[in-house]
Amino acid sequence: MKILVVGSGGREHAIVWTLAQSTRNATLYCAPGNAGIESLATCVPLKADDVDGLKDFVLRERIDLTVVGPEAPLALGIVDEFRRAKLKIFGPTKNAARLEASKVFSKEIMAQANIPTARAKSFAETVDALDYLEQHPLPVVIKADGLAQGKGVIIATSREQARDAVIDSMEKAVFGLAGKQVLIEEYLDGEELTVMAFTDGQTVVPMLPAQDHKRIGDGDTGPNTGGMGAYCPAPLGTPALREHVTRTILQPIVEIMARLGSPFQGVLYAGLMVVKGVPYVLEFNARMGDPETQVVLPLLKTDLIEILQAVVEHRLDQLVVEWHDETAVCVVMTSGGYPGSYQQSMPIYGLADQEVRRAMIFHAGTAMKNGMVVTAGGRVLGITGRGVTLKEAQAQAYETVAGISFQDCYYRKDIAHRALR
Ligand SMILES: Nc1ncnc2c1ncn2[C@@H]1O[C@H](COP(=O)(O)OP(=O)(O)O)[C@@H](O)[C@H]1O
Ligand SMILES: [Mg+2]
Repeated sequence: MKILVVGSGGREHAIVWTLAQSTRNATLYCAPGNAGIESLATCVPLKADDVDGLKDFVLRERIDLTVVGPEAPLALGIVDEFRRAKLKIFGPTKNAARLEASKVFSKEIMAQANIPTARAKSFAETVDALDYLEQHPLPVVIKADGLAQGKGVIIATSREQARDAVIDSMEKAVFGLAGKQVLIEEYLDGEELTVMAFTDGQTVVPMLPAQDHKRIGDGDTGPNTGGMGAYCPAPLGTPALREHVTRTILQPIVEIMARLGSPFQGVLYAGLMVVKGVPYVLEFNARMGDPETQVVLPLLKTDLIEILQAVVEHRLDQLVVEWHDETAVCVVMTSGGYPGSYQQSMPIYGLADQEVRRAMIFHAGTAMKNGMVVTAGGRVLGITGRGVTLKEAQAQAYETVAGISFQDCYYRKDIAHRALR
């Protein structure tokens, strides 16, 4: 069977790596992929949001199943387009993907389904938003409605900062159309947790809970990034908490989406804030998270191809999904300067030596240039160590990290610190 994975980051490398472990011997393709994915799959030079190009490729090559990594093609309706052409594809339709693509829609649905989430009010008019802010306790969270590449959320600690965030988003359009509407949300003080789930639109199978590290600096300081590392399972996500999340959050959201005529099929990602042991939804994503995927999938015991097929064929209830009794820690290596501006095309040294070690090397932003692997993004590599304990997994990841270098390379030294405190 032929499988196409859409995307080019560490998440997609982890998906391709997991598919390559399958006993089904699938032929793998990735569009556009990267220098690491190349060794496991045929990389196709099509952009992830080139829906028509991807559809033509799949028809021409007779691909049996397409798996969508990033959110942009989902929001563009790649799943609807493929289904119209009778092609099998793993991911939610455009309507279902609104759970991620519109934070205002997502809040409305959560309110209808009584799902615990941070209290919020949506605004389409700047004056109303500014007026509402005057009375709101601080800190206050301002969220652009649409997709803003992880930059659309401001946690304002002063009223002036909050007003600026509203004006930047609604008037100055710094997020384009995505910021025409905003949510003004109460600030929740707790610890974050990611619980992703496979769902075929009816049955929900939660994955192991993970925690990522958004801030650039050690000790969770400095600006937000796309994610500097992750670990799994996060001890915060006890079996009891996971059961609670499934019952009060994941199942109700999947149920209401089906009831509203937009069944959600694919991976549903719940970004949670756990406040005094109680989980609240901060956001939903309509696909797997990055870097979380790089620690969750390596612990999956059940064949991923079987799971994907069960989802696409709406028979997830007939499958038992099992996990290895291990832990995983992923350390992301970035280009110096990220999340601000950074240089690219720097040769990466040590990859071949480190590939023989036990840690997995997932490529996020890499390319081949004159036969060498070079940097091609802010997040360059994700190094995932595995072990019986988180400490072992962490040590394994950092040993491999120490053997890899490129100019101005940066990484956090404390991934998994919250669990190891
Ligand atoms: N209500 C909230 N209270 C406290 N922190 C929040 C709240 N909402 C979001 N955050 C913080 O902002 C980050 C980004 O918000 P999120 O809703 O996940 O949007 P996105 O991932 O689309 O940028 C979260 O990971 C969390 O750290
Ligand atoms: Mg988020």
